[in-house]
Amino acid sequence: MTFSYSSETSRTCLAVVLAAGEGTRMKSGKPKVLHQVAGRSMLGHVLAAVTRAGATGAVAVIGPDREDVAKETRAILPDARIYVQRDRLGTAHAVLSAREALQEQPDDVIIAFADTPLVTTETFATLRAPLAEGAAVVALGFEARDPAGYGRFITSGDELLAIREHKDATEAERAITLCNGGLMAIRGDLALNFLDRVENRNAQGEYYLTDIVAVARDLGHRAVFAVVPEEEVHGINDRAQLAAAERIMQDRLRQAAMMSGVTLVAPETVFLSHDTQLGRDVVVEPHVVFGPGVAVEEGAVVHSFSHLEGARIASGANVGPFARLRPGASIGSKAKVGNFVEIKNTELGAGAKVSHLTYLGDASVGAEANIGAGTITCNYDGFNKYRTEIGEGAFVGSNSSLVAPITIGRGAYVGSGSVITENVPDDGLGLGRGRQVVKEGWAFEFREKAKAVKKK
Ligand code: UD1
Ligand code: MG
Repeated sequence: MTFSYSSETSRTCLAVVLAAGEGTRMKSGKPKVLHQVAGRSMLGHVLAAVTRAGATGAVAVIGPDREDVAKETRAILPDARIYVQRDRLGTAHAVLSAREALQEQPDDVIIAFADTPLVTTETFATLRAPLAEGAAVVALGFEARDPAGYGRFITSGDELLAIREHKDATEAERAITLCNGGLMAIRGDLALNFLDRVENRNAQGEYYLTDIVAVARDLGHRAVFAVVPEEEVHGINDRAQLAAAERIMQDRLRQAAMMSGVTLVAPETVFLSHDTQLGRDVVVEPHVVFGPGVAVEEGAVVHSFSHLEGARIASGANVGPFARLRPGASIGSKAKVGNFVEIKNTELGAGAKVSHLTYLGDASVGAEANIGAGTITCNYDGFNKYRTEIGEGAFVGSNSSLVAPITIGRGAYVGSGSVITENVPDDGLGLGRGRQVVKEGWAFEFREKAKAVKKK
């Protein structure tokens, strides 16, 4: 059965995100749901998707002593309510940890698993739609290539009769390939009534959320289902499944970028973050990594082997190959950042050039300035960071160290190889290097002497 997605609904919707999993198969010091896909935690993806799908309130159910999971929840959704499930007694029990929020009887309740981060916004909306048409429970199914381990949908036409967990299924039921993806939507005024009736008389001694389908039907209500491709409900239990989710997410992000007018020369080699913004006619050459927080404006080019995070690149700028932009890098329009250049917390003005082998940290560089090869801002003394200000049209000669805090004036020059420790005024010259000494014939004499010593 398919339902149309309409974002225009005035119904209130509480999203309950189950994040109390132990995740032991990740073999990790950190909780499973905080592992990242495309630069964002799985939990973050799910919280963002339910919000985009129109949830008017969100709840995260977390395990005991999981301040890190609570913190991530608040970082993504400051208004989210957090409940702790003390004992892991099953998915229905986990949802009931949010009893207080369910008592408010929102129109719709949606249940999502925090370790299933590939569910799209549209799917959450699809799941809600039948509630407005009178269904009491909606479950999300998929045709499983290998159904082992999943709950099976027992159906009759459009109706969902029951969900049978693998461990409780008969041989005949195990032959069913239409499986439960885990997500559900429940009518808000009935959710607690259904959940409170779930019993734990099953193979795992757990309170199964899936049992609410049979409970709802026994009470004379309708339960239906929607079907999505298997990859949407791909759950993550180990690092191999995490990598598989990353592949799927990357393909989606690359596809969306290309459809919005971005050239990815070799898309399979470009890694994007969930929030990467690429403008029209941006060209990304092969082997570029976008960490979180990057925006590239129209027509800019990112050349091969560059690594960018927390950076803004204005229109028509050129970055790389082999450039590294770190958080707070802002590259002005038509500016150029060349090979082996690292830029952090620095504004580069329009048309400025930093073409080779340079580190700029905590600096501002005026428009049209030229920073020579091998320039280093010495921004850190082991305790504090200091700023370097370089004026418009300044010219910093190659292999210069600019010891911050320092100002190089507008249109000023810095002689190559300088260590600059004092400010250079506008249109002035800063020279900070040993004076050159020339000794005529020195090399010849040296060689003669050396040869004589060697013969002895
Ligand atoms: C669940 C479904 C199954 C479905 C499968 C899809 C139930 C009973 N079964 O099975 O029909 O095919 O997902 O992947 O719902 N959780 C808690 N507290 C608990 C138990 C679980 O927070 O006490 C959380 C887990 O962290 C996880 C989610 O709920 O995020 C699902 O639990 P899990 O144990 O993975 O259920 P499955 O056996 O996979
Ligand atoms: Mg599971």
